[in-house]
Amino acid sequence: MYVENLSPRLQAIAKHIPSGAFIADIGSDHAHLPLALWRSEIISRAIAGEYKQGPYASAIQNVQRFEGEQQISVRKGNGLEVLSSTEEVDAVIIAGMGGELIRTILSEGNSSLQDVKRLVLQPNVSADSVRSWLIENGWELQTEEIIQDAPYFYEILVASPGQPDRPYQSINKEAALLLGPYLMKEKNAAFKAKWEREYKNWQRVLGEMEHAAEKTTQLQEKRARLLEKMKIVKEVL
Ligand SMILES: C[S@@+](CC[C@H](N)C(=O)[O-])C[C@H]1O[C@@H](n2cnc3c(N)ncnc32)[C@H](O)[C@@H]1O
Repeated sequence: MYVENLSPRLQAIAKHIPSGAFIADIGSDHAHLPLALWRSEIISRAIAGEYKQGPYASAIQNVQRFEGEQQISVRKGNGLEVLSSTEEVDAVIIAGMGGELIRTILSEGNSSLQDVKRLVLQPNVSADSVRSWLIENGWELQTEEIIQDAPYFYEILVASPGQPDRPYQSINKEAALLLGPYLMKEKNAAFKAKWEREYKNWQRVLGEMEHAAEKTTQLQEKRARLLEKMKIVKEVL
């Protein structure tokens, strides 16, 4: 297993891993990413963290199959608790989960991120909650990427300690949190396709809300938030 054997999503993530780095892949599942990065001689060492027994056992098996035990340490544990204060990890990867879960993992393990130089985050949904966590915690987005691997779209966020507000200067911050400050400037084909699809989806949800028998306050609030997001997306597209 090498980087070129990975899915397009994991290959896109791999591009953002610094050469020679010691990485931690949190929620590593089968440890495919660290294994491929090591076998392709991109990283020096890795921690593969996983909290579920099945994926953890499969990660151990995979690492053993390629005789990578010296370089890839598979550890069972919740989020960033698999990091230890005596090891200096260069980059932390958290990929293939919802944005809210990534946010929780970062918040709960924030004290373990002191010496980390790069975060590579790939939320499947709710990237806005990851972007706001980065701002609130002193991380500056360095770059973002969006790819389409049909039928899905994936956003990759790369951040370093720095000036969190810098990417958001002189642009609509609310729009940038939702869409990504770099992505909304670049507006590539995947970006347009993703938000056009999302917009259509929201139109359908809005239609369903109009027909709801009971217009509760909660529903009104949801509708208002939806209209706000639709306005943002329409303006940017
Ligand atoms: C969908 S998989 C993604 C695997 C891989 N990171 C990728 O991008 O292909 C998510 C994995 O994260 C693990 N996971 C979820 N929450 C976790 C947590 N708090 N700590 C460690 N692992 C977690 C799950 O058990 C699962 O194996």
